[in-house]
Amino acid sequence: MRPQPDRIEGLPEQYFAALLARVAEAAARPGVPLIDLGRGNPDLPPPPHVAARLAEIATVREARVHGYAPFSGLRRLKEALAARYRDVYGVQIDPEREVAILPGTKTALVDFALCVAERGSTILLPDPGYPDYFSAVALASARMKALPIEPRPDFAAAPTEDVAAIYLNYPSNPAAVAPPDGTFAEAVAFAERTGAVVLHDFAYGDLVFDGRRPASFLAEPGAKEVGVELFSMSKSYGMAGWRLGFVVGNAEIVRRLELLNDHVRAGIFVALQEAAVAALTGPQESVEERRALYEARRDRVLAALPGARSEGTFFAWLTLPEGVTVDRILEEARVALAPGEGFGARGAGHARISLAVADDVLDEGIERLASLL
Ligand SMILES: Cc1ncc(COP(=O)(O)O)c(C=O)c1O
Repeated sequence: MRPQPDRIEGLPEQYFAALLARVAEAAARPGVPLIDLGRGNPDLPPPPHVAARLAEIATVREARVHGYAPFSGLRRLKEALAARYRDVYGVQIDPEREVAILPGTKTALVDFALCVAERGSTILLPDPGYPDYFSAVALASARMKALPIEPRPDFAAAPTEDVAAIYLNYPSNPAAVAPPDGTFAEAVAFAERTGAVVLHDFAYGDLVFDGRRPASFLAEPGAKEVGVELFSMSKSYGMAGWRLGFVVGNAEIVRRLELLNDHVRAGIFVALQEAAVAALTGPQESVEERRALYEARRDRVLAALPGARSEGTFFAWLTLPEGVTVDRILEEARVALAPGEGFGARGAGHARISLAVADDVLDEGIERLASLL
């Protein structure tokens, strides 16, 4: 076989695959059973009516269900998402032109880079930020520059030359912060000034704490002219394994994404899309129950660990005391955390704690961490 093409060889290490392998290796060693607070996989299933709708449609023996779905997705699913944006986030969306349906927002954040960044152009990524953004930049043959997000993104100090795109993510994984006031307005102004486009990753949009309201980037005046938002079914409805997400906002970016999608995929199973309509339009209590559960777990983490904080998501972000590392915590407390440096240079000295684990596991993990720290 010929050598690997650059686009494969140049891929960054896949942070989560490496993390899972490290935790599995540690768990296999003899000793006290390991507590895994490193992973970020929703621990609650979708509400029963959603799973029932999937089963109901999947058992219909008709080609319209089991054949290729329309490549750009079901119109009624786009309408259901537009209704959610109107009712919950106060944003008007045209379901025809301003919504793309994709198999998860992880896919969408890579596709976005392919659709907006020229080879060699710059993409600004939040630091610390979600590591799959590194993959998007690499696959688009773009260059990555860090946008420090603490205490807030400093757009005045950000590079401006040949910036194709900026990724933002609030509530943020891993730093678990809500958007500081004015951040979205500054992002829109930066985009207008530089010609960059904005991707706001709203994957944890509904998981906000302390009475905050979910804050959509698209509610910002001018946002739709310069960017899009990713909305995921994974976290709000516990459907991570189902693979369904949306890109919402700028019609030209949505058009390009649908074009790319037509070339590389062939639609999403109709039953899954119908189940997502049921999730978005049916009873919404489960969204609030899920949010409240994570907030209660967050409260217990913050009460026990003074260096931890979280304003949303299903994570807490821990500042490690001098001399304490994630490796040491793994060895001495047998608790796995996600090491901060994997999320960017400014993640060093921190660790991400998952709240998406059963209560008794979390409590045992907190207790072990509290005695070590
Ligand atoms: C910040 C962020 N964005 C996007 C994703 C991808 O979500 P999905 O592909 O399940 O929609 C994740 C998943 O963990 C995430 O943490």
